[in-house]
Amino acid sequence: MKDEENGGGAGDDAAAAASLPGTLSPSCSSLAPLRLGVLGSGKGSNFRAIADAIAAGGLAAETRIVISDVEGAGILTLARERGLRAEFVAPGRFKTKLEPEAEERVVALLRAADVELVVLAGYMRMIKPPLLEAFPRRIVNIHPSLLPAFPGLEAWAQALAAGVAETGCTVHYVDAGMDTGEIIAQRRVPILPGDTPATLHARIQVEEHGLYPAVISRLART
Ligand code: GRF
Repeated sequence: MKDEENGGGAGDDAAAAASLPGTLSPSCSSLAPLRLGVLGSGKGSNFRAIADAIAAGGLAAETRIVISDVEGAGILTLARERGLRAEFVAPGRFKTKLEPEAEERVVALLRAADVELVVLAGYMRMIKPPLLEAFPRRIVNIHPSLLPAFPGLEAWAQALAAGVAETGCTVHYVDAGMDTGEIIAQRRVPILPGDTPATLHARIQVEEHGLYPAVISRLART
């Protein structure tokens, strides 16, 4: 099942773009690629899907920088393999957020790279005011559930434990809460008999890899 919803309802790409809640700067030319800054903590399969869509000509964007709070993160390796700038920023003493100085460093790197849209792709820390205020309504995230259901960690396991018939993935704007920002688009994934956390997460990720590039593409055209 691949129901894609866009705030006010489903439609073709043009209609979906028109219905997206919020737009990027009016100064963004529809001809210029959207300049992305990607933040991730893990293996980076969503980043790979975005990079592949750009390389295939299906997404009018360019990745200006990839930043991770995890020095050995796969997402940094994927970026370097593609010749992209990849930076590790030491997170500091907290587990769920960056040290304020570290977040200021992230903001400085994104600004120096002239980033227009910050794309969270498996980034495992809360976003705090320095970054939120530097990129108001310019930060998006992908979450492995049909928000507002199952925010937080291992949302696929939460869905299995709750016994629901379907779950999915959501792209949303980022605010100060945990997975609470305005929803941009979702795709549904049925929960099948015999699903384990691993099989369910794998099927959700297949949908993520289609949804995230599609949403960024629409944002690039608004
Ligand atoms: C994805 O399931 C995403 O929804 C969540 O973190 C995971 C990241 O996976 N936010 P990857 O690093 O993109 O493979």
